Amino acid sequence: MALIQLFIWIQLVFAQAPQRVLSPVEESTHGASIESASANAASIFNAIHSSMRQWGSSIQHNGMSFFPAVVPKGTVLYHGDCNPIPPTHVDWLAFEIRHAELFTNGVCLSIPPSSEDSRHRSIWELQLEGGWDDPKRPPPGVRRAGNLQIYQANRPLKFLYVDGMGAAKSDFGPMDAQDRLLSLNFTRPAWAEWERVKDLCQLAAGWKLDGFIRMEAGFEIIKCDFSDGMDLLSARKRPPLESGGGLSLLEYMRDVSSRYNGIDGSRVFLDYSSMVSAYFYPTNLSNSDLDSDLPRLLFSTPAQLSRIRSDLGALILKADPYTSIDWQGVVDMISKEYSLRLQHMATDPPHVEILTTVNELVNLYVDYDDLDSPDHIEVCSQHYLHAVQPSTAQDHLIHAALSTVTHKICSTLFSVRKILFDGGEKSGVHPTSPAELIRSLMAWLDWPEWKFCGQCPVDEVCFVAVFPFGTAEDHFHPRCKNKTELEEFGRETNYWRRGRLPRLKPKPLAGEVV
Ligand SMILES: *[C@@H]1O[C@H](CO)[C@@H](O)[C@H](O)[C@H]1NC(C)=O
Ligand SMILES: *[C@@H]1O[C@H](CO)[C@@H](O)[C@H](O)[C@H]1NC(C)=O
Ligand SMILES: *[C@@H]1O[C@H](CO)[C@@H](O)[C@H](O)[C@H]1NC(C)=O
Repeated sequence: MALIQLFIWIQLVFAQAPQRVLSPVEESTHGASIESASANAASIFNAIHSSMRQWGSSIQHNGMSFFPAVVPKGTVLYHGDCNPIPPTHVDWLAFEIRHAELFTNGVCLSIPPSSEDSRHRSIWELQLEGGWDDPKRPPPGVRRAGNLQIYQANRPLKFLYVDGMGAAKSDFGPMDAQDRLLSLNFTRPAWAEWERVKDLCQLAAGWKLDGFIRMEAGFEIIKCDFSDGMDLLSARKRPPLESGGGLSLLEYMRDVSSRYNGIDGSRVFLDYSSMVSAYFYPTNLSNSDLDSDLPRLLFSTPAQLSRIRSDLGALILKADPYTSIDWQGVVDMISKEYSLRLQHMATDPPHVEILTTVNELVNLYVDYDDLDSPDHIEVCSQHYLHAVQPSTAQDHLIHAALSTVTHKICSTLFSVRKILFDGGEKSGVHPTSPAELIRSLMAWLDWPEWKFCGQCPVDEVCFVAVFPFGTAEDHFHPRCKNKTELEEFGRETNYWRRGRLPRLKPKPLAGEVV
C-alpha cells in the first residue's frame, strides 16, 4: 500500500467512535500518522522492547504507551492487607509475593468509600509520601501486622498496561499518561492515588476492563473489583511487628532485578497490534525539566490528548493479545544482533577490528554481482521485518518505526564500512571517525540495556532507581551495590522527589478522609 493511502486509511480507522467530536481541522492535525511514528521511531522501538520488563521501563520511566493485556486464568496474584478478607473496594495486587509482603507490615489506614475498610500502606511509601516526616512521630493510622492474601484468576483477566514506571508517585512524568491523558486531569499531584484509581476504574468500566497493570519496584495490578474474576486461595497472618521480620532491601531488589528482562511465567500477554502510543501522534512531548530528556505530556493540548484517549477506547474493546503480532520478539532479534557489536565498536578498537565486525554484520546483504547497488541498505533494513505481515493500523505504525530504526542502523554501518574501505579518514575526506559514527547512532538509539551493570557479585545487585527507591545517581549511573550501600537511601536524596525539594509539612495522606 502506498504511504499516502496508508496514511488516509489509518486516519479512517482511528477516527471511528471518538468520545468527543473533533472539528475537521482537529481530525487532520491530531490523528496518528506514519510521519509521527517515524519521527519517534527510536522511542517506539524502546517502548516495545521494554514492555513488561523492569530494566528498560525503569530507565525510561515516563511511559507514553498503552497495551491491552490479558492475565491468563490460573495466574496467582498477591495482596497485603490489614484484614484476612478480600477488600470490597478497588485495591492493588502484586505479581510477586514479596511485593505484597511489603504492604503487610505497614500501616492500616481508613479510606473511602466505607470507613470500615482499611488498607495497608508500606512504611517506605509513607516516608516518601511526605505524610510521615519525623521518624519519632508515629505515622497516622494504626500500625499492626497484616495478612498476606493469595488469589488465583478464575478466568482470563483483561487489563490496560500503562508502560514506563506507571506506579511511581512522582511529579516528574511517570503519571502523565494516567493523569493528563487517561483522566484529562492537568492538576492532579502524583500522590493523589485514590482519586486517580477512582477515575481509572470508571474508565475501566466503560472499556470492559478488570483494571490496569503498572510498574514500580515490581509490577502491580489495579484491580477495580476484587470480587470479580479471582478466588481467594488463602490469607496468611504475618508475624508481630516487633519480631522484626522485615525484608532487607537487598533481598527485595533481588526479586525486582530478576524481572529486569521480563515478568516470566507467561503471566501477562500484550496485544502489540493494538498498542496506542503518544509517539504515534504529532504531539509535543517536551520536558520542562532541564535535567531530563525523558518525554512529558505537559505541552500536549487537551484536544490532542482526548483524541489519543478516544482512539484507545475504540481499539480496546476488540483487542486480543492472542492474535497480536509478536513485535517484542522482532525488536529483540534486532537488538540482539546489534547491541554488543555496536558497544564494542564504540570503544575505539583498531580500525581492522571495526571493519571485521561491520563486515560480519552487513556483508550478508551485499550482492557481489552488483556491488554498488544502493539496495543493500534496504535489504539489510528489511531483514528482520520480512517475516511480519502488518495487519492493523498500529502494526503499520510500528512497522514504519522499526523500519526507520533498522534503516538508520544499516545506513550507518554501510557508511562506516565505506570509510574504512576507502581509507577516507586518513585522507581527510571523512572528518568523522568510524567509532564516532557508531557512538552517535547509539546516542540516537538510546537502548537502556547499555546502562546495565553486567553480572554483579553474588552479594550485590545491579541497582537502578525503582520507585520508591534510589537517588539521581542510581538513575543516571546504575551499578552493582551491596546491602550496606543499598540501605543508605533517604528521603532527602530520593530521585523520585528529585532530592532537592524542601521537606514538606505533614499533610493528609492520599485517600485519607480529613
Ligand atoms: C484533578 O485531580 C485533583 C486531585 O485528584 C482533583 O482535586 C481535581 O478536582 C481534578 N480535576 C478535574 C478537572 O477533575
Ligand atoms: C513544545 O512546547 C514548548 C513549550 O510551549 C515549546 O517551547 C517547544 O518549542 C515545543 N516543541 C515543539 C517541537 O513544538
Ligand atoms: C559495601 O561496599 C562498600 C563500598 O565498596 C564497602 O565499603 C563496604 O564494606 C561493603 N559492605 C559490605 C557489607 O560488603
